[in-house]
Amino acid sequence: MAPARIIVLISGTGSTLAALIRAAQAPDSAFEIVGVLADGDAPGLAHARQAAIPTAVVPLRDHPTRADWDRALAAAIAELSGRALPDLVVLAGFMKLVGPAVLSAHPGRIINTHPALLPSFPGAHGVRDALAHGVKITGATVIEVDAGIDTGRILAQRAVEVHEGDTEETLHERIKVVEREMLVDVVSSLAAAPAPQPA
Ligand code: GRF
Repeated sequence: MAPARIIVLISGTGSTLAALIRAAQAPDSAFEIVGVLADGDAPGLAHARQAAIPTAVVPLRDHPTRADWDRALAAAIAELSGRALPDLVVLAGFMKLVGPAVLSAHPGRIINTHPALLPSFPGAHGVRDALAHGVKITGATVIEVDAGIDTGRILAQRAVEVHEGDTEETLHERIKVVEREMLVDVVSSLAAAPAPQPA
């Protein structure tokens, strides 16, 4: 079976993307990364360029409305993907909500990773909120993206203990270690699964 073709969206340092690139470079990988897209000049794009993966940048500020940006994002994903739409769109530290244009172009084929155990602590500050709440266990979650804020179907979760003296940075770094491994596992299993047959 040909490897599944995936597009990855990032906003930041891209350590999660780097883990996906390493996995995709393995000889028996069930997926290949055909493009990486960012919503600004994300440092993580360097990982894609080093691996000679095509990249694109679609900043929100370059578009008059959110809906225009969302349409431009959908067009950029299609362009990066070339001959056919991607089998999977992976949000790996993409810090913006995708809208109806992107969601309707890839129904059921967009996943996101979040650094907390959803449904607890959704949104942009999952690690900070968990720490502030004083939980002893937090972790990471991979969801199927829907139109809500981190409300999609849960595909996988892994727990991470909160240590005495943890800061947002120290806790987030430990969560990321688990998150990278889990996201690679989820992408690999979705990629290996036979494509759903049209009804
Ligand atoms: C991950 O923890 C992700 O859940 C969150 O941002 C982080 C991205 O890290 N939204 P990196 O940019 O891949 O290092």
